[in-house]
Amino acid sequence: MISDQAKKEINTWVAKYPEGKQSSAVMQALTIVQKENGGSLTNELKQAVADYLEMPTISVQEVATFYENYNHKPVGKHVVRFCHNISCMLNGSDELISYLEEKLDVKTGEISKDGLVSVKRVECLGACVGGPMCQIGDQYYEKLTKKRIDEILDGLK
Ligand code: FES
Repeated sequence: MISDQAKKEINTWVAKYPEGKQSSAVMQALTIVQKENGGSLTNELKQAVADYLEMPTISVQEVATFYENYNHKPVGKHVVRFCHNISCMLNGSDELISYLEEKLDVKTGEISKDGLVSVKRVECLGACVGGPMCQIGDQYYEKLTKKRIDEILDGLK
């Protein structure tokens, strides 16, 4: 269930922690496994991570459901993680999220018909001064406007 390549990557993280504390690498392991499996985690994958790190399944579930960077149902090729927390909300995130949903013809949590994009509302991403902002992959996009959203979406392939 976890590929050899993914295990190799996970092992580099496990090696950063004291012996017997491999469960400390659970977030990285979930991230690696999620990325390798189209951007979301099934219960089987979470179980596989628990088995690999020799930790209780419930502990993996707790981490996977606490943090917003894990997806529990299929997502588009690109996930627009749009912050709707206080700074971003005060600077117009709700209106921009609605604009994004309208433009893509999706609701938050859904995948665009072409499978390219899904939209997720998330809590603070720590870039409050740049709000309204979103994250796509490893990239942050700040001070968003409708025009900027158009440009970003045009750049997604
Ligand atoms: S409130 Fe949006 S990044 Fe902090």
